[in-house]
Amino acid sequence: MNLADAIRTIPDYPKPGILFRDITTLLGNARAFRRTVDELVQPFAGRKIDKVAGIEARGFILGGAVAHQLSAGFVPIRKKGKLPHTTVGVEYALEYGVDTIEMHVDGVAAGETVLLVDDLIATGGTAVAAVQLLRQAGADVVGAAFVIDLPDLGGADRLRAVGVPLQTLVG
Ligand code: PRP
Ligand code: ADE
Repeated sequence: MNLADAIRTIPDYPKPGILFRDITTLLGNARAFRRTVDELVQPFAGRKIDKVAGIEARGFILGGAVAHQLSAGFVPIRKKGKLPHTTVGVEYALEYGVDTIEMHVDGVAAGETVLLVDDLIATGGTAVAAVQLLRQAGADVVGAAFVIDLPDLGGADRLRAVGVPLQTLVG
């Protein structure tokens, strides 16, 4: 089974010209979902990972499963205004817009090792902002894992350039 075949592409969503990579088809396929989580975890298995940070919204689904497999805690990184306690936030550029992500001020403790998880890296704006948030809180971001890399948009290179090793499964 090829994981790429389990992902659906929707043209012109959410804006004209965007080829939206829809992982709901992969999540609905039990074998593909299990293999995806196993492969995301693989480079980090046996490492000391205190927390997985998952990025809203699809990073919650994958990050929760990865955290369980690594016996790590989970910390949500959310769009602005969604978290109930005091937050820290960073503004970032998307492939198709601008947004702000936030984390609870006590989401990670200084010195904790964190693995960042999301479904897809495009420009890397979201992931680099998440790394900034985590590092501001004193976390050690030991890696990042994504199902899909859109290499033409340069996100993986941006993330490596800020010192974060990454695992991606489908180019
Ligand atoms: C998508 C994706 C990543 C981000 C990647 O989320 O899940 O989080 O875009 O883009 P980037 O590398 O250019 O920053 P989206 O902002 O569509 O939010 P959603 O998951 O809440 O729909
Ligand atoms: N986030 C940014 N670009 C995306 C794309 N092409 N498909 C799905 N999510 C995205």
